[in-house]
Amino acid sequence: MSATASPYQDPAFVRGFGTFPLDGEPLIEALHAALALGYRAIDTAQMYGNEAAVGQALRTSPVARDSLLLTTKIAPANTNARDFWPSLEASLKALDCSQIDCLLLHWPDPQGNNAEALRLLQEAQQRGLARHVGISNYTIAMMRAASQQLEVPIACNQIEFHPLLDQSHVAAAADELGIPLTAYCAVARGKALSEPTIVAIAEEAGLSPAQVTLSWILAKGVAFNAMSTKPKNLAANFAAKADALSAEQIARIDALGAQHMYRIVDRSKVPTAPDWD
Ligand SMILES: NC(=O)c1ccc[n+]([C@@H]2O[C@H](COP(=O)([O-])OP(=O)(O)OC[C@H]3O[C@@H](n4cnc5c(N)ncnc54)[C@H](OP(=O)(O)O)[C@@H]3O)[C@@H](O)[C@H]2O)c1
Repeated sequence: MSATASPYQDPAFVRGFGTFPLDGEPLIEALHAALALGYRAIDTAQMYGNEAAVGQALRTSPVARDSLLLTTKIAPANTNARDFWPSLEASLKALDCSQIDCLLLHWPDPQGNNAEALRLLQEAQQRGLARHVGISNYTIAMMRAASQQLEVPIACNQIEFHPLLDQSHVAAAADELGIPLTAYCAVARGKALSEPTIVAIAEEAGLSPAQVTLSWILAKGVAFNAMSTKPKNLAANFAAKADALSAEQIARIDALGAQHMYRIVDRSKVPTAPDWD
C-alpha cells in the first residue's frame, strides 16, 4: 500500500466491521469475533460514544495493531477550530493510539459550508495525527468542493450504499474525482437479505444472500462496513468476494436500486441527511 493510495482499496480492508450502535461488552465480544474471522478494517465515530470500548477490545486482542485499519469520525459539533483538537485528542486517547489510521468528517454542513472542517481535517493529517483522511455523507457537489480544496488525497466518502438504493450517480462522480466510496448500511440493516432477486441469485449461485449483497458492493469497487453481533452473520459477510457474481447477476441487482429507492439514514433520522442528487 503506497502512502497516498486509499487504504480502502487494499484487499485487506475492503470488508470492514462497523461498530454502531454497539458499546461495552457486546461490542468487545463482536469485535473480537470479527478479528478472529479476519476482519482488519474497523469503523467507529465520536458520535457512537463507543471509542473507549473499541480501544479496550483492541488492547485485549492478539491481533497486531499495525495490521488494522481503524477509522473514526469527527462529530459535526467538533468541526470548528476550538473543539476539533480536544475532540481528536480524546478520540486518540480512547482508541489508545497516537495516530488514527483514517479520520473522517462524519457529516457535512447541509448548506455546504465545509471549508473550515476540511482545513482542520487536512491539518490533522499534516500534524501526523491521522494517516489518511476522508469524508462521509458528502453529496456530489460537496465531493467536488472537497477535492478542489484539499491538497491531500481523500481516502473515502463513506455513504449509505446497498442494492436497495440507487447511488450510481454518486459513484460515477466519485469515480471521476478519484474518491473511493465506502458503504455503510451495506446489508440495508438486513432488508436486502430477503429481497426476492437477491434470494433467487443466492440460490442459483449457491451463496448466502449476505454474500450476494456484499459481493455486489465489492464488484462495484466499493469497500463495505457491515455490523453484526453474531459470529455466523459476521462469517457470512466476510465471505463476500468481488468476483463471486456474473455480469448478468450484477445487472439484475443493479436494477433493484431504482426500483426500491430504500433509504435508511434519511431526514426522519438525521435532520441534516443529504439529498443524494
Ligand atoms: N457514516 C455514517 O453516517 C454511518 C451511518 C450508519 C452506519 N455507519 C457505519 O456503518 C456500519 C454498518 O451500518 P449499519 O450497522 O447501520 O447497517 P448494516 O450493517 O446494514 O446492518 C446491521 C444489521 O444487520 C444485521 N445483519 C448484518 N449482517 C447480517 C447477516 N449476514 N444476516 C442477517 N442479518 C445481518 C445485524 O443484525 P445481527 O447483529 O443480528 O447480525 C444488524 O442488525 C455501522 O456499524 C457504522 O459503523 C456509518
